[in-house]
Amino acid sequence: MRILLAPMEGVIDAPMRQLLTALGGYDACVTEFLRLSDGELPERTYRKHCPELARGSRTASGTPVILQLLGSEPELLAMSAQRAVELGATAIDLNFGCPSRFVNRKAGGAALLKEPQLMAQIVSAVRHALSGDIPVSAKMRLGYDAPDNAVDIALALQEAGADLLTVHARTRADGYRAPARWEWLRPVNEALKIPLIANGDINSVDDWRRCHEISGCQHVMLGRGALMQPDLALQLRAWHQGREIEAMEWPDIRPLLPRLLQHYAPGTRGLSARIKQWLGMLRQRHAGADSMFTQIRPMQDMDCIFAALVG
Ligand SMILES: Cc1cc2nc3c(=O)[nH]c(=O)nc-3n(C[C@H](O)[C@H](O)[C@H](O)COP(=O)(O)O)c2cc1C
Repeated sequence: MRILLAPMEGVIDAPMRQLLTALGGYDACVTEFLRLSDGELPERTYRKHCPELARGSRTASGTPVILQLLGSEPELLAMSAQRAVELGATAIDLNFGCPSRFVNRKAGGAALLKEPQLMAQIVSAVRHALSGDIPVSAKMRLGYDAPDNAVDIALALQEAGADLLTVHARTRADGYRAPARWEWLRPVNEALKIPLIANGDINSVDDWRRCHEISGCQHVMLGRGALMQPDLALQLRAWHQGREIEAMEWPDIRPLLPRLLQHYAPGTRGLSARIKQWLGMLRQRHAGADSMFTQIRPMQDMDCIFAALVG
């Protein structure tokens, strides 16, 4: 069983990857998408986006980091993947799932689900640009408006040379509406020879047990669930091994918030919004996080927020 930490733009950045992978249970994590639309990017953009490049593409606790690219031009993506590997990337993921309007105007992400041939060309171009020891994966949704072509698209990506495929069990039109449609993963899983990673609404051991039963998938990617319950990967792994572990409760989770802040360089902007965003997810699960959220919500000053978090 492989457990991956999902890419989440603006939420799971390098400090969050460091914090969550240090708790354990993950086989790999994926960076937020790096968008390629107007030509090649400078080296500093790769390094800022994925500081782990300087450390063999691993988080401080040794978990491999997969660099995710988003775009619609096969040549540009292939050159950029090559560049990323020169700079230290050890695996490349291609984003075919982002529903954002801004991204889609530039014809990237989930918009490409309407053009499976172009998706396959992108995978093929990136695969051919890299040596065989660098895995190339793709992350897609079930479809644009409807899930009917999911198997065909997945097979086209496999044929084009993808080593691994993650499917977020929703269409572009579904947005993030619950429930995820795990039942549509089964035919994809049965059709593919490469490993399929199931993704979408797996927020507890029970969710994974049901998703596994319904979809037949062996592998999972955790997004919002990992933020609501930071030890979720460890719990899933224990379940897989026939063990049960005690879930982290709010008193164990609370110290993670100031610890996250310490992973940022001094003066980093937007930290107050980030910490409130994370608390916003934690409060869905933990009453203590709800009170903490109410307390720090009006605060802007990071010293005050830090003091409240450790207080
Ligand atoms: C705020 C946010 C940012 C996201 N950013 C990315 C991204 O950069 N790349 C990507 O492939 N998916 C991105 N996703 C999708 C997630 O990786 C994941 O597929 C989705 O949240 C469903 O999984 P979950 O229910 O476990 O969260 C994002 C999702 C959210 C909510």
